[in-house]
Amino acid sequence: MSSSGWWRNATIYQIYPLSFADASGDGFGDLRGIIDRLGHLAGETDSLGVDAIWLSPIYRSPMVDFGYDVADHCAVDPRFGSLQDADALIREAHWRGLRVLLDYVPNHTSDQHEWFERARGSRADRYRDWYVWGDPSPDGGPPNNWLSAFERVGRAWTFDEATGQYYLHSYTAQQPDLNWRNPAVRAAMHDVMRFWLDRGVDGFRVDAPHRLGKDELLRDNAPDVVDLRVATQLDDRRHRNLDDPVVHEYLRGLRLVTDSYPERVLIGEVGVHHPVRRRDYYGAGDELHMVFDFGFWSNPWRAEAFRRSAWDQQAVIESGGWPTHALSNHDLPRHASRYAHRTATGMDTTSRSRAAAVLLTALPGTTFLYYGEEIGMTNLDVPDERASDPDGRDPARTPMQWDFSSPAAGFSNASPWLPVPNAGPDVRSQSADPGSLLSLYRELLHLRRTHPCLQSSGYADLDTGPDVYAFRRTDGDRALLVAINFADTPRLAAIPPGWLPPNATVNLSTGARPPGGVVDLRDLVLEADEALILDIAAR
Ligand code: NOJ
Repeated sequence: MSSSGWWRNATIYQIYPLSFADASGDGFGDLRGIIDRLGHLAGETDSLGVDAIWLSPIYRSPMVDFGYDVADHCAVDPRFGSLQDADALIREAHWRGLRVLLDYVPNHTSDQHEWFERARGSRADRYRDWYVWGDPSPDGGPPNNWLSAFERVGRAWTFDEATGQYYLHSYTAQQPDLNWRNPAVRAAMHDVMRFWLDRGVDGFRVDAPHRLGKDELLRDNAPDVVDLRVATQLDDRRHRNLDDPVVHEYLRGLRLVTDSYPERVLIGEVGVHHPVRRRDYYGAGDELHMVFDFGFWSNPWRAEAFRRSAWDQQAVIESGGWPTHALSNHDLPRHASRYAHRTATGMDTTSRSRAAAVLLTALPGTTFLYYGEEIGMTNLDVPDERASDPDGRDPARTPMQWDFSSPAAGFSNASPWLPVPNAGPDVRSQSADPGSLLSLYRELLHLRRTHPCLQSSGYADLDTGPDVYAFRRTDGDRALLVAINFADTPRLAAIPPGWLPPNATVNLSTGARPPGGVVDLRDLVLEADEALILDIAAR
């Protein structure tokens, strides 16, 4: 794999289009709204300073799974706008130096996609074999014991009365799985990629690629893995509904299409939990450029857990791949909430978010930020009557908080599709506050773009005892030392003697330490939850 690529060490910002900004005034976010807010992300002096945006699906969709049920891959859902709006967004983003990635959903379509409507119309239709069908078992039940990834859905099969067979759906019954063994499906899905690559998109976040490979004979999962909805073990070949080796052939196909355009990139949401198995999805530099790290975002707030993740990520680099760091996305509870902890004055959602910002931006790899993370948005309790997601993920998908002095926090002039809290962090107040999380992210992203040590892959961790995770980032004879205290009380960073010169200069601290100050590394005490970046003098 060549070492070039704009996406290495880049920062990619995930926009959930329904919740970012509503320009049309219908309560749903849209593409014009995103265009209006691009200045928050890039191209202006007070922009966050990200390199790319990834949009969760914008295609025509009945929104059963909020866009991950695609009814037409080559049309924009009217809630979001039109194809012309998508072209305008790509143009405006590029003008600001921002790349644009779309979500690509290869495993399934909506049941309202024309392909599925044809397929379910008759067993003889030429689209029948574009989906995965199975005969009822002898007792009339589903063909095998496979389960949907969504607990609430249960079985991964739904019976089609009209044609007397079951169809497979790895998610909701309204999301039938495509049959990737059929070359016509592969060709059609390659055309979908080309449709968008021709319009100028810079790549794709590939949804659930591990689901493309499944047992051709539709054999049962081993009984002891029936209740596991994701593969967790190295021997997860017993999960016959996913991660079948044939998937790698399909991914090589996606990569060939991608590589026929310059500087495009593929990032896969490979929901295979074992890091060694996940590494296979980079192939020999001929499959995915990057793979999301399920281990990283599942970590408890512990120094040791993140140190271990970084080892896995070093193994990714050594085997020719490139790691990613994300702590939040549209499927997870927001990490400001996950890592919140009780203090004498109430729940603290901020100090660990500040330290997490350093972790996300200072490790070697590509950083993914989820909209609102830069201001520390937390999960919002969504009352049952307003919740609509089939997997209960609404609390992490509420509208972006731009400005609490405007209606709906500046998201929309209408009543927003999901609730907005009455108060909380917002872009407007954090923009003006040098001590805010937003200001910290801006500084970190600036440092990440400009400091050679953060642009290289040089990394070594230091044994600094429990609660403190410290590592060096190096480039030639330049070095940065990053130290993070995971404890809620001060801790000594026990830097091993002989590793470093005695003194270092503060580049950035998430605590009260001013930049430029000199610290003695033989006696470095970190404040509670402090993350510190130090410049180390060449020896
Ligand atoms: C993973 C996506 O991130 C999630 O939001 C979606 O529900 C499933 N794949 C199905 O597409």
